[in-house]
Formats: sequence, C-alpha cells, structure tokens
Amino acid sequence: MIKTIAPVNIALIKYWGKASLDPVLPSTPSISVALKDFYTVTEVDQSETFSFHLNEKPVSQEVLKKTEAFVRLFQPEGPLKLAIKSTNYVPTAAGLASSASGFAALSLALHHFYGRSLNDYVALTAKGSGSAVRSLEGGAVMWHLDGSIERLNIDLSAYQMAVIMIDTSPKKIPSREAMAMVQSSPDYQGWLVRNKARALKLKDALTHHDIKTWGLLMEESTLDMHALGAIAAAPFVYLKEATLLLWQALIEARKNGLEAYATADAGPNLKIIFNRKNREAITHFLNRHPFSYVITDFTDQGARLWSK
Ligand code: DP6
Repeated sequence: MIKTIAPVNIALIKYWGKASLDPVLPSTPSISVALKDFYTVTEVDQSETFSFHLNEKPVSQEVLKKTEAFVRLFQPEGPLKLAIKSTNYVPTAAGLASSASGFAALSLALHHFYGRSLNDYVALTAKGSGSAVRSLEGGAVMWHLDGSIERLNIDLSAYQMAVIMIDTSPKKIPSREAMAMVQSSPDYQGWLVRNKARALKLKDALTHHDIKTWGLLMEESTLDMHALGAIAAAPFVYLKEATLLLWQALIEARKNGLEAYATADAGPNLKIIFNRKNREAITHFLNRHPFSYVITDFTDQGARLWSK
C-alpha cells in the first residue's frame, strides 16, 4: 500500500489556456502558493478490481472513467487491479475541494506504486490536471511554458490566506472546457502577452517581499482571466455579485490602509492574501460580511509520502 499527501495550491498568476494538449503545456507561465490546512491524502493498494472512493464514498461513473484513464498512463497494459481511496482535508467551514491536490497526491502514489521516472511523472500529472503539477512542490511554485516546475526561493511564513466561501455548489463549467472556450476570445493573444509579463514581474516581487506589487499583479491576472470568459464567443461568468461586492469592499478597506489582495479561481469564492501582522484587521473586516471563512498558513511541503 502506498499513501501520499499533497497540498492545495492557489494561483497568484493564473494558468488559463493550454499551448498543447499532449503533452499538457500551459499557454503562459503560472505561479502558485501551497496551503497548509487544505490537502488531499490518497492511498493506493492492490485489489481484485478497480475502485475509487473519495471522502469514503464511491465516485460517480464519470469520475471513475476519468481516473481510470489517468491510471492507464502509469499502467498502459493489462487489467487495472487497484483500490484508490482519497480524502480531501479542508477546514470544516470551507468545503473547497481541489483537483490540483487530488491529482498531485494520486500521481505521486502511482509513481511509487508503478515506479515511473520523475520527469515523466510531472508530465503525467499535468494530464490529470495542469494546476496539479504545482502541488508537487511546496511554497511558491512556477509552472513554466516547457512544462517544468520551479520552486521559488521565498519564505512565505510572513503571509496568510483567508478562504471565503461565497457559494460552494459545484462549478458549472469545468476549467478544462472553460480554457478551450477562452481560446476563442478576441483578446486571447493579448492575455498571453500580459500574463507572461505578469509572471516574470511577480516572481521578482515575491523574492523582494514586495506584497503590494505581487498582490496587485495577482488581482490583475485574476480579473483578466475572468474577463476573457466574459468576452468569449460563448460568454460565461464564474464570479457572483457577492464576490464582487466583497472584493470592492476590500479595495475600499485598502484605501484606508488594510494591505490585502484578493483572487478567485473557476468559481465565485474569494481568497485574500495578507501579511500575518494584519490578521486581526482582516478578521474584523471579514466579520462584517455574512460569509464563513478559514484562515490558513502556507506550507513548504509539496506532495510526499505520508508519514505521521
Ligand atoms: C482557474 O488545472 O483545473 O484554477 O489542466 O484543464 O485540468 P486542467 O485545468 P486546471 O485549471 C486550473 C485553473 C485555475 C487557475 C490556476 O490554478 O492556475
């Protein structure tokens, strides 16, 4: 039996579009940070059949098929005799599941189970979910255009993230489909240029602990990503009114000295990054709004074999 653990990562610079499907390569670099209190634990073991339990329940046929196709990358031939058990650990109020931590933990488990080479395993992980490659490492991680991952040399212990639950119902358009749709956006080429430039600037700002610069670049990348969907040939919007109202309130609070920056992924929930010295002020700010939230540290530890 192999047991692994992998953290959820949140992108500061978004991955939103693929340059290639096979191998899976991003159309711009992206940069993320790994969360301490949000992670997936996965066990794989020999079995008579192929099964996958998520949070102690058998998954749907659709997820089972998708997972089977992923495991096939590690074992191309013969019957799959494997029992997979995965648990998403998220603070109770949060309910934020993540395919990134899930595929990173599963990929590492399969890598040990079948003994694949390390380079190969990063590329295989990307086939499960592009953002999952960033959960293979801890701390701040950059996913490059050539598919490689780079752990950035920055200590994140001064910062924290509030994850705010605006709406936890399942997302309507999966990221994979959304990315294909935004490639038809009239401004997709512009996004490629802007987001690549942001990634380079943010990397620099991170190493200089310049939270103002990296916070604003994160907000830019986020809103640019969401705008691409809004102007795609078949437009779609993930953000809800409540997301925007809270974000707007944060921008106002910032004018009054609260240093904190927001982001949102393929859904309406908001994540706010701040220096831990502002924790009390952030708590005070969030308590004025009706949403539950969880504050977490970041972690230096990426996907790894489980040990107590
Ligand atoms: C909005 O990694 O889920 O979270 O590679 O198609 O599985 P696929 O997409 P996925 O996309 C994540 C998109 C995002 C931004 C990010 O994490 O960079």
